[in-house]
Formats: sequence, structure tokens, C-alpha cells
Amino acid sequence: MPTYKQSVIYQIYPRSFADSNGDGIGDLQGIIQKLDYLANLGVDVLWLSPIFQSPNADNGYDISDYEAIMPEFGTMAEFDDLLTETHRRGLKLILDLVVNHSSDEHRWFQESRKSKDNPYRDYYIWRKPSPPAPLPERERGEPSGSFAPLSRSGRGAGGEGNPPNNWQSFFSGPAWKFDETTGEYYLHLFAEKQPDLNWENPRLRQEIYRMMRFWLDKGVDGFRMDVIPFLSKDQDFPDYPEGRFGDLTIHANGPRIHEFLQEMHREVLAHYPDAITVGEGFGVSAAQANLYVGQNRRELQMIYHFDHAVPREEQRFIEPAPEFTLPELKAIFANWNNALGQTGSPDEGWQNIYFGNHDNPRSLSRFGDPVRFPYESATLLALVLLTQRGTPSIYQGDEIGMTNCPFDRIDEYDDIQVRNAWNALVLPNQQLAPAFLASANRIARDHARTPMQWSNAPNAGFTNGPRTWLNVNPNYVQINAQQQDTDPDSVLNFYRKLLRWRKQQPVLHEGTYRDLLPNHPTLWAYERQLDNERLTVVANVSAMDVALPIKLTGELIFGNYPKITADLQPFEARIYRLNP
Ligand code: GLC
Ligand code: CA
Repeated sequence: MPTYKQSVIYQIYPRSFADSNGDGIGDLQGIIQKLDYLANLGVDVLWLSPIFQSPNADNGYDISDYEAIMPEFGTMAEFDDLLTETHRRGLKLILDLVVNHSSDEHRWFQESRKSKDNPYRDYYIWRKPSPPAPLPERERGEPSGSFAPLSRSGRGAGGEGNPPNNWQSFFSGPAWKFDETTGEYYLHLFAEKQPDLNWENPRLRQEIYRMMRFWLDKGVDGFRMDVIPFLSKDQDFPDYPEGRFGDLTIHANGPRIHEFLQEMHREVLAHYPDAITVGEGFGVSAAQANLYVGQNRRELQMIYHFDHAVPREEQRFIEPAPEFTLPELKAIFANWNNALGQTGSPDEGWQNIYFGNHDNPRSLSRFGDPVRFPYESATLLALVLLTQRGTPSIYQGDEIGMTNCPFDRIDEYDDIQVRNAWNALVLPNQQLAPAFLASANRIARDHARTPMQWSNAPNAGFTNGPRTWLNVNPNYVQINAQQQDTDPDSVLNFYRKLLRWRKQQPVLHEGTYRDLLPNHPTLWAYERQLDNERLTVVANVSAMDVALPIKLTGELIFGNYPKITADLQPFEARIYRLNP
């Protein structure tokens, strides 16, 4: 079995992967039926987005029972089968650990909200209202963009006073919700139905560790850890600092985060030395990363950053950020490699790299040209992702070149992030609707969540029922796994070949990374080196022919064009081996 540094992860969004019983919702049986496809693709580790019992306010990222399977997805017996069948094919399975918050329907929260002296009260973060005060003085933080904060709300009736501070939720509006029963506010950095767990409470921490052991004892191979840098909160709960109102990165890297992660390692992970751990590093800068993943820290193995992710703040739906230029993107990769270190010393850490996941639009639509060069740009992204330094994650559907899905109306979206942003921005100001919809069509998370396109059968072969929980992208007729399976020149077969070859290349697993042309506007050229072994990658991230400003010697071993020319053709990517 490959170690975490040699592995390639494949992310499954279970709701959209494969539906076995015709209800239009993907499920565990569906995944089992596709395991041969995944083994044959050549990935090593499957990461399942949450499969636990949940009311699905945020599609499973709001868990109401950490040790039960979501009934829509199947039973515990089916999960056990999935695990056995995954292992039987030589693959590993990791689960999503969502422990910054639970669902408000979790038994702990149901208890916690009952009374101030309930034994579960301190499992969550409760604070008294702050006293009402004249508005101008209270609204201290100024929004950084041109949009006014959604007010601290809660003003008015019933002794609600004001929220304890001016923190904002990821999914629009204040991060505090007043609860009548006990007359206090609880913290929710995400949706109201996702109350934050109180990691200050040692009993809560032990419950989480016990739950982690429950899954690891079943044979699960590790965890992807949801917003893990958020676990520790500044117990003074200060307002946002001047000029940084609504800056959600402030919630990361709290005062006790490393103490908690080291405790988790001691109590759980150290006893399962083969367990894989990937932290979702929202708010962690390259300079801070080794505090989480430095090998001698005994915290996590890998982290993935957000430096090239689509920004998530609500006003982005009106004022979308421009896409990264190639020099910016290259600088992000170079910066992370430098910050993590490449000398092999014990304080260095490791990263998990991605171009797409369930929180971003489709990578092909962001970085490629899905209209004119769908094959070339999808395979270029494959080639770059799989030759960078770090453990790559392939997001489901990217291996067949799935694209953003055209959505025309707000009610075609499912995601709570889009819906809440719409309610906050467009309901009070209808003329923003066209700008909002245009932006959502570019950046919304639902683009990555449409059902997997298995074939050109109705509903893309994802289900044999009449409906799907989210629209199928109409381009499934052209873009689907079945058609690509037998076409030797498909995106799918390019991934298969590259993944198979990558397994035999220690230089790609552990070699250093050096950007050869950091300032070039359209070429991404870099070298990977391990001892005498050197690979050069050149990729033309543009729709035009580009002359190569460096002389390439050595043997061409991989490329995405049948015939090469002196120039690099649109979205052409090549790998050369330099002979020592
Ligand atoms: C993470 C997940 C995202 C979810 C959020 C709250 O960022 O990847 O999908 O909405 O955490 O759990
Ligand atoms: Ca189903």
C-alpha cells in the first residue's frame, strides 16, 4: 500500500455519485457498484463527503448522529460492505470528520438548549445578549466591501438585546442566534442549523475522540477534517478588528488549536499509525502551515489551503473576484512548496493539492476552455495536478471533464450558501438579481454537485428513477464515463494512463519542485527532482500557440497532443525526462 505521500485521493460527493434505488439521491450501494470503475481509474484513497445522519441543511455537513449512516444513503451494514469491498480492491477509505459544529438536531444540542444547567450546556457556545445600545455606537465594524453588514439583528422584542459580538456567518447574517428557552445566544459560524461545538469542554473532546476510534476500529483509513483550524475560539469573543469586519479567516488558528490537535493525535491518531489525515485549511497561511503538518508537531499529515479557492464571502455573488492569472496561480504553488520546505527535515510538512472540490465550481470551467478545448484543457489540468508536489485530490467527474452547469433561476440551486446570500442581498434589492445570477453561474458550489455523468441514458445514468435531487448537466449526452471508457483518446483514459505511470515515479512522490518560468503569462513550466532523476513539465495554459522560451532536452514521455510541434499548441502539456 502506498503511503500518504505516494497516494492519489479521489473525492466522492455521495449524494451525487451514483443512485442504486431510483430515488434520485446517490447512496452507498451506488458507490459499491462503482468501485471497479474507481480501482480501474488508478486512485488509491477514496474520501467520502459526510455520510452520517443529518437533516441536510448543508448536505451532510450538519451531523445529527456521528455514528449512524444517513438513511437516504443506506445502512451501517451497507457501510461495512462498502469498506470491505473497498479494501478488497486495494483501496483505502477516509471519512469526513465534521467536528467544528454539529446539527442543531443532534441529541447534544437538543439537551444543551433546554436549560443553563443541562449537563450538555457546555457542549456548545452560549453567551448572554449584550445590552441594547444606540445603533451607531454598536455598529463599530465597518464592512470591507461596499455592502452594509446585515446588522447585528436580534434587536427589539423579548430581551434579546444584541448578539454577543459582531461575528458573521459563512452563510450570511450574524453568527449568533438567540434561543428563547434560556434567553441566550449560541454561536454558529456556518448555518443556524450548525451550532459550533465548544472545544474548551474536555468532555466534548473525549466524545469526539471516542467517535473517531469507533470508525477507525471498524477499519476506516482516516479522515478529512472539516474546517479544522476553527476548533479553538478566542474566549474573549472580541468584535472583528477595525477594518476587517466579516473577515472569516479571523476564526482560524485560535489560541488552543495546536493544543487540541496534539491532544487528538495523542488520544487517537498515534494509536492508528496508518491513519491518513487531511485538514481543510481554511484561514491557514503558507507560513502557518507547518504548525499543523510539520512532522515533528504530531498533529496532521496534510493540509489543503484556500489561496486559489473561489472566495466565499456573500458579496462575491454581486462583486465576483476576477479569476487568478497564471503568474498568480504559479506563485501560490511555489509559495506553498517553499513554506512547507523541501529538504526532508523533520519540521517540514506535506500538502494536499486540488483544482476542484465540492466547495468550488468545476475546475475545467475555471481554469480551462470547456467550449473550444475541452479535451486539451481537461488533460492539461490532470497533468499539472498529478505532477505537482503534494498528494493530489481528484474531484469526482473531473476525470471525465465535467463542467459548470447552466442554472437560470435561483430555485434551481440547492446550496444553502447561494440561497442565503440571495435572501440577504437580492430580496431587499431586486435589481441585483441579474448580477447575482450571472455570478452564481460562475462561482456557485452547486456546479460541482450535479450528478455524476455515467452514460448518455436519461439522467446521465446516475439514477434509473425519474428525478434527481439536483439537475443533471444537460451536456451529459456528450460528456459521460461510458462513452469515454472505450475511447482511447478520452479524458478518462488520459487520467488512467497518467495515474498508472505516476505510481512508478518516486520523483513525483517526493521530488522537489522548482518553477522555471514564474513570470510567464501563459506557460506553467517546472522541474521535479529527486537525486539524479529530473522531470520537466511544460503546460500552455492558453488557447493560443506559444513559443517555448526554454530549450527542452531529454525524452518526451507524456503529452496530450498526438503530434508535437515546435510551439506549444493550445492547452498542450508535456512531461520530459532529463537524462542525468
Ligand atoms: C467545509 C465544507 C463545506 C461546508 C462547511 C461547513 O468548508 O467543505 O462544504 O459547507 O465546511 O461544514
Ligand atoms: Ca438512492
